[in-house]
Amino acid sequence: MARPRIVALPGDGIGPEIMAAARELLERLGDFEIEERPIGGASIDAHGTALTDETLAACRRADAVLLAAVGGPKWDTTDPDAPRPEQGLLGLRKGLGLFANLRPVRPPRALLDGSPLRRERIEGTDLLVVRELTGGIYFGERGREDARAFDTCVYSVEEIERIAEVAFRFARRKVTSVDKANVLETSRLWRETVTRAAEGRDVELEHLLVDNAAMQLVSRPAEFDVILTENMFGDILSDEAAMLTGSIGMLPSASVGDSGPGLFEPVHGSAPDIAGTGRANPLAMFGSVAMMLRYGLGRQEEAAAVESAVDRALEAGLRTRDLGGEAGTEDATKAVLANL
Ligand code: IPM
Ligand code: MG
Repeated sequence: MARPRIVALPGDGIGPEIMAAARELLERLGDFEIEERPIGGASIDAHGTALTDETLAACRRADAVLLAAVGGPKWDTTDPDAPRPEQGLLGLRKGLGLFANLRPVRPPRALLDGSPLRRERIEGTDLLVVRELTGGIYFGERGREDARAFDTCVYSVEEIERIAEVAFRFARRKVTSVDKANVLETSRLWRETVTRAAEGRDVELEHLLVDNAAMQLVSRPAEFDVILTENMFGDILSDEAAMLTGSIGMLPSASVGDSGPGLFEPVHGSAPDIAGTGRANPLAMFGSVAMMLRYGLGRQEEAAAVESAVDRALEAGLRTRDLGGEAGTEDATKAVLANL
């Protein structure tokens, strides 16, 4: 891959600010061909839809897709027929076949006292949420009839098998599969299928009900290795897990499929309350750039260099507002670049 082609999707809110920071970082790392396109609310404003066919086609042609954030009050509506920014992201995940979402949670040493949880609780935490991303209630049939509304949760054995495969591939010692098998039929199929997928492997498998998992994630986070779960449970648990690092502004993610480009994005949203103020924390975005380098472009060394530059900047005292400090997006970018 001589000159990797990246489609950059800044999106809404703080998205353009952290994308600009990411581009500064990429510029420093080497020669990338970057094509920027609107998504989410920005695309609704420009084209009336959150994801145009042209943007999806450009993403398909790329080596990797980097996305900042979508959404904001401007486009918030409960009208089922109005376009929504989130449709851009969901359309991209589905359109690129990105069924596996990887969300690593590893509180940096420098932030161990920044979490709302005591240091003793989070010390040693190094877990990976493997979230199924193109099935379940997010993509099932939905609608409204008179005074009723419904969403459907559907999973096939094949969908569960392929995400379980990813979880076992990343596991070092244990897979914790999270479901609601005491209530949901899809969860019972999930549990059966994951149990079968674990046979003959050298990895421990445990099953947790999602409510219990939510509790254990804050009471004994260091015990987890890989957390394997379905789409909506993964959405909720990964926000919860983010707070182990002290801020959701720290969590990167990668979404990958069987083939084709992956999508790399921070877990946090578009933070409309601080958009345009230069205060956004770009570190989750930098972490997403690192994941793009590692999983999307096969540039392991540069990925590790970015991650260690972030760690060193934090150790040297870098703190953005969400981490209780004063640093803005520019300061944080400078600090990371200085440690690269
Ligand atoms: C996430 C986000 C998205 C999701 C939204 C923006 C549709 O919360 O990536 O976690 O629910 O998947
Ligand atoms: Mg979420």
